[in-house]
Amino acid sequence: MADAVIRFGDKESRLEVVQSVEGQVAVDISRLRTEVGLTTIDRGFANTAESESSVSYVGGEEGVLHYRGYLIEELAEHASFLEVAYLLQYGELPTRTELEAYQESISLHTLLREDMKHLFEAFPHTAHPMQILASATSALATYYPDALDPHDEEAVDISARRLIAKTPTMTAWSYKYSVHQPYIYPQNDLGYLSNFLHLMFSVPAEPYTADPVVVRALNMLLVLHADHGQNCSTSAVRLVGSSQANIFSSVAAGIHALSGPLHGGANQEVLEMLEEIVAHGGDVAPFVARAKDKEDPFRLMGFGHRVYKNFDPRAKIIKRAADDVLDALGIDDDPLLDVALQLEEVALSDDYFVERKLYPNVDFYSGIIYRAIGFPTEMFTVLFAIGRLPGWIAQWRELLADPTTRIFRPTQVYVGPERRPYVPIEQRS
Ligand code: ACO
Repeated sequence: MADAVIRFGDKESRLEVVQSVEGQVAVDISRLRTEVGLTTIDRGFANTAESESSVSYVGGEEGVLHYRGYLIEELAEHASFLEVAYLLQYGELPTRTELEAYQESISLHTLLREDMKHLFEAFPHTAHPMQILASATSALATYYPDALDPHDEEAVDISARRLIAKTPTMTAWSYKYSVHQPYIYPQNDLGYLSNFLHLMFSVPAEPYTADPVVVRALNMLLVLHADHGQNCSTSAVRLVGSSQANIFSSVAAGIHALSGPLHGGANQEVLEMLEEIVAHGGDVAPFVARAKDKEDPFRLMGFGHRVYKNFDPRAKIIKRAADDVLDALGIDDDPLLDVALQLEEVALSDDYFVERKLYPNVDFYSGIIYRAIGFPTEMFTVLFAIGRLPGWIAQWRELLADPTTRIFRPTQVYVGPERRPYVPIEQRS
């Protein structure tokens, strides 16, 4: 394909076109400044590719998401979460032997250093678990100083496994602390998700067995969250990683980014919004009206997406699954699900939402399943973090392994005051 050409004044720059396997091609603008004296501005990076990436593909127009070529519909139905984590880390689906070895190595790292208990206890009992998880993730770097070199492949691999193994324990402990229950220790003969449910919901005084329906539902949800191109939290992980900060610090940055209500924090907000609608009698109309009112900052949480402009394929799968999971858990009628369905119907037939191509996103229906499983609302975004973790790590590893990576350092268009002389304090009015 021919290069793209930009002319500015009497100067010209030929921009190399970078090919893609799927989706849009790009022009490399890195020489634009030196050749024609122009930088680019792209608010919210809506049309900027930070680099080439092989981890996942998000096809906004056709509503497609795949991880290293495998469609999420197939992975959600057939693959285990750790199988997907392996795929994202190493680029290929594991053989049975590889998967067993991977599962075993993850299970060997589920314990936290006993000293870490004090970290949880330093927080108020009311602390949001996303804040605790981000802090605990940062703290892991202090326990494993020998495994922080981003260019030591073996150290990176062990740190990646530690992160995947310990995040469910850290998450569950933040919950146990908030409800004044004793911490539960991991049980390594359980599968990854059965162990997580055991850490969350068992108490020392009672036997606990995870319901297979719940394990399957959680597996499906986490698989659907495992990666998603250059989203906000992944970009945060890559940005911090570009300075060669260690993997724990980089992932902690991703957790903070995910906590925002416009990103992963939306799943908690959706549930709270649905509860509010139910508490106000179940009429969705005033909430839709508020979302359309430009004077009101209220948005329909769980609606809209930067990339998907027809539908979010994850939301489609979760919506279909919600009914089945609720049925299997013996929940005949969930007023929140009824309101969610009604809200979707009203919004999708309203010109405001149609014109702006606003559809339910991954966060719209996921909370209904999390709630049916028994997770408190505050844990929803943390569940997203557990799901997204393999993607963050895979993206961080891809970035660090790429010899063309440079520290991320965007430029700006300065619009502040012009240069002016310093005014001594006694002369300032
Ligand atoms: N409710 C009402 N109006 C909305 C909504 C919404 N949920 N989302 C977007 N709009 C409107 C905007 O007001 C804007 O209208 P305008 O053109 O009249 O000014 C237009 O749609 C485009 O919206 P932007 O904010 O420019 O779109 P952007 O791509 O920057 O934002 C985002 C995407 C953050 C997801 C946005 O749709 C939103 O805030 N949604 C609600 C929060 C949410 O569900 N976040 C989770 C996203 S998925 C994820 O991160 C896992």
